[in-house]
Amino acid sequence: MGIVLRGGTIVTAVDYYKADVRIEGEKIVAIGKEIILPEDIILDVEGHLLLPGGVDVHTHFDLPVGNTVTADDFTSGTQGAIMGGTTTIIDYATQFKGQTLKEALTNWHAKAQGACYVDYGFHMAITEWNDDIAEEIGWLSQSAGVTSIKLYMAYKNLLQVDDDILFQALVKSKQCGVLVCVHCENGDMIYNLVKRYRSQGNVAPYYHPLSRPIVAEEEAVYRIIALAHAAQSSVYIVHLSSNNALQVVMNAKCRGNRVYAETCPQYLLLDESFYSKDHFESAKYVISPPLRKKENQDFLWQGLHDGMLDVVATDHCSFNFHGQKDAGLHDFSMIPNGIPGVENRLGLLYTYGVVPGKISINTFVNVTATQPAKIFGLFPRKGTIAPGSDADIVVWDVNDVSVISAQAQQQRVDYTPYEGFQQKGKALHVFLRGQQVVQNGNLCDGDPQGIYLLRKLIR
Ligand code: URP
Ligand code: ZN
Ligand code: ZN
Repeated sequence: MGIVLRGGTIVTAVDYYKADVRIEGEKIVAIGKEIILPEDIILDVEGHLLLPGGVDVHTHFDLPVGNTVTADDFTSGTQGAIMGGTTTIIDYATQFKGQTLKEALTNWHAKAQGACYVDYGFHMAITEWNDDIAEEIGWLSQSAGVTSIKLYMAYKNLLQVDDDILFQALVKSKQCGVLVCVHCENGDMIYNLVKRYRSQGNVAPYYHPLSRPIVAEEEAVYRIIALAHAAQSSVYIVHLSSNNALQVVMNAKCRGNRVYAETCPQYLLLDESFYSKDHFESAKYVISPPLRKKENQDFLWQGLHDGMLDVVATDHCSFNFHGQKDAGLHDFSMIPNGIPGVENRLGLLYTYGVVPGKISINTFVNVTATQPAKIFGLFPRKGTIAPGSDADIVVWDVNDVSVISAQAQQQRVDYTPYEGFQQKGKALHVFLRGQQVVQNGNLCDGDPQGIYLLRKLIR
C-alpha cells in the first residue's frame, strides 16, 4: 500500500510540471500519470505546489550562550521548522573549551535524540584547536557523519580563532573531505569598537551595528577566501549580510575559487532602521552580523537570482526579549545575539521573493532545499522530488494569506522579528519520509519522527 499525491504541480530546482507522486514506505517510488495501485491512499492536491521539504543548514537549538541557553530546544525548534515546511535541519554542535569533538558531539546527540520533528544532522563548531582535535576531524567525517565544521572569526575571547587555526583547519578539512563554514567578521576590530562605545557611555542596542561595521565583514570574507585559496580548500560563508561582502564572494567565484555563500531572511527583509536610539525594543534585532542599510537588500536578492548566493538558511538562534535579551538593558554587548526564524523561512522567501518576481520558483527551491542538500552531503536523498529520494514533500497552498505573529507561532520564544508581516502561501500538508506530519496546517499527533542523518564526505 502506498500514498499518491494526485493532481499537484511538482517544483524542483529545474522543473515545474503537473504529475502525481507515489510514496511507498519512506521513499518516493514513482512520478507520473496512472501510477495509482489498488490499495493506495489518495490525497487530492489539485491546485497546490509540491515542493521538496526545506533544508535549513544553519540553526542553533539548545545552545548555551553566556549564562543562558537559547529559547528553542530541538523539540520546539523542529516543531517550528516542520510547520513552516522545513523537513531537515543541520544544527551547529559546539565544542566548548576543554572538550574533545567526540564529547561535544555526544552532548549534541543527547540534546537532539528523540526530540526532533524533522530529520537532522550536525556541523561541528570548533573553538579550540590542537593536534588531537585536528586528528578528530577524520573520525568526525568518516565515522560520525559530520562532514562540515565551523570556525568563528569574531566573538573574541569566546569563540574566535586566529588565522593560524583557520589555515590549519582548512588544510586538514580538505584532506578529510570536510567543508569549513565560517562566521566572517573581524573580531579584533569589533572588540575595540565595542570597548570604545562602552567607555563613552554609549550602551544602547543602537550601538551594536556601529560596533560591527560592514568593513569588519568585508575584510573577514576577503581573508577567509585568501586563506582557503592558499590551502586549496573550498569554504562556506555563513550569514552574509552586505553587498560589500557579496562583491568579494562574486569576485572569488568568477576567478574560479570554490566559495559558497549563505544569506538569511533577516538580511533580505529587515534593515538597520530597527535599531532605534531610544527604545530597548531594538534588542530584539541584535544579531551578528547586524542588520544593514536597506540598499543592501536588492543586491542580496540579485545575488540569489544570479546564483552568486547559494543558500538561504535562518541562523535560528532565539532568545526571549523578556528574561534573556534584557540582560543587555544597560550594555548592548551583553545582549545575547540571535533571532528566531526557522518557522518562517519558506513563507518569507516565497512571499517576498517569488511572488514579486525577485527570484523564480525554481531558485526558491534551489536555495532553500536543493543547494543546501548538495553542498552538505545529503543530495539526492534530500532536497528534491525524484524517485528514490526520501518522501519529504510539502504541499504548498499558494492561495493562503496569513499574518506572522508571535502569538500564532510554534517557535518557543516571546517575539518574532517578522511580527505583522503578511505571508502568502503556506505548508498545508507536510510529509517526512513518507509519514504525514502536518495536516491542513496543523501538527499531527504523535512522537517526534526525526532521525539523525549521516552525511556524505564533501569533495
Ligand atoms: O547573532 C547571531 N548570528 N547569533 C548566532 C550565532 C552566530 O553567530 O551564528
Ligand atoms: Zn555566526
Ligand atoms: Zn549561527
